[in-house]
Amino acid sequence: MADYLIVGADRGIGLAVCRQLAARGETVVAACLGRGEAHDGSGVEAIPEIDVTSGAAVARMAGALAKRGGKIDCLIHVAGVLGLDALGSLDFGDVRRQIEINAIGPLRAVEAALPHLAAGAKVGIVTSRVGSLADNGTGGMYAYRVSKAGANMVALNLHHDLSKRGIAVAALHPGMVATDLTKDIPGDFDYITPDEAAEGLIRRMDALTLETSGRFWHANGEELPW
Ligand SMILES: NC(=O)c1ccc[n+]([C@@H]2O[C@H](COP(=O)([O-])OP(=O)(O)OC[C@H]3O[C@@H](n4cnc5c(N)ncnc54)[C@H](OP(=O)(O)O)[C@@H]3O)[C@@H](O)[C@H]2O)c1
Repeated sequence: MADYLIVGADRGIGLAVCRQLAARGETVVAACLGRGEAHDGSGVEAIPEIDVTSGAAVARMAGALAKRGGKIDCLIHVAGVLGLDALGSLDFGDVRRQIEINAIGPLRAVEAALPHLAAGAKVGIVTSRVGSLADNGTGGMYAYRVSKAGANMVALNLHHDLSKRGIAVAALHPGMVATDLTKDIPGDFDYITPDEAAEGLIRRMDALTLETSGRFWHANGEELPW
């Protein structure tokens, strides 16, 4: 059994990942933006009020990891936001906010957690297929696409640095998942549940090795283009 750190675990996909890992007997630490009450009584150790845009908060997360002792074998960064936008009415404050959370957030959180990762640890960053340059056939969603393209670069860059130290890194797309994040997206999509997404993401992390590090995976196992 291994020690997992899930960043962004209050609800949605992150919460489902924590619950499934705990159910199979893993030790789970959940860094939550809120109080982490969803984990009360579940056996998951919640670290409350970890905003990935705050250096002080992620330092507190690192302090909590140091205090609990055991190293983390697998870190999955799930935290993210989606704000819909359109050319002609862009809100650049919101563009910055999405970049700060979705692209800089995982970099800040992973860097802070590094001293607490075990030898041979794995890092997964939940980005999004819409962050793929090669897969962008429709445009739109400026802030989200830009922020998730940045998150993909964070994952690939971390792979270059960390695989040399024996840590494998993957960028992950969870699928189209019915959560609060997607509820306002117009159009009909074949949504999967947070539990289905979590199952696929956990499978991808189980399969991740140094040989497959530095790639972008759909939770369903398909490799995605950058
Ligand atoms: N749903 C999809 O179809 C889909 C598709 C592709 C990629 N993704 C990505 O998957 C991840 C999870 O999405 P979801 O659908 O589960 O969304 P969600 O239900 O809205 O959950 C997002 C989580 O991120 C947390 N969060 C937001 N801002 C944060 C911050 N500044 N610091 C720390 N945590 C923060 C939220 O905390 P609070 O609950 O406290 O607000 C929440 O726990 C995101 O990165 C998203 O971009 C989702």
